[in-house]
Amino acid sequence: MSLQHVRLIDLPRILDPRGNLTFIESGNHIPFDIRRVYYLYDVPGGAHRGGHGHKALHQLMIAMSGSFDVLLDDGRTKFKYHLNRSYYGLYIPPMMWREIDNFSSGSVCMVLASDHYDESDYYREYADFLRDAQGGNK
Ligand code: TYD
Repeated sequence: MSLQHVRLIDLPRILDPRGNLTFIESGNHIPFDIRRVYYLYDVPGGAHRGGHGHKALHQLMIAMSGSFDVLLDDGRTKFKYHLNRSYYGLYIPPMMWREIDNFSSGSVCMVLASDHYDESDYYREYADFLRDAQGGNK
């Protein structure tokens, strides 16, 4: 997978004076079935998260509250996204190194994932990720 497969998905919004509503349906709005949801919260100022890649996992990342930066790297090119709206989801396909930082105070990063947590799906070392990403065997 390359950065060309990454996209910012404009999620449906039901605008209402009582408060807006957004929904996400597997298959309709995102190109994978959701098998796990996790979120980062109470992130202290200056913290860095991520710093890993996934071999097969598809993810959608949303700033549910506040904002943060997501640096994506496909082993050849890097691109930084700033997420700050709860109706935009950043689709991250497999084989993408990610670094998340610049969290605003009180921000919440929610991630929808295509599979359960599995440590064997992670690249924890950048050199290992680069070897496979640049080898083109994924
Ligand atoms: P990790 O994915 O490394 O977090 P980040 O990339 O945001 O810094 O996960 C941190 C720890 O949490 C690690 O020990 C694995 C554990 N974890 C789970 O048990 N289940 C999960 O769904 C996730 C995402 C992490």
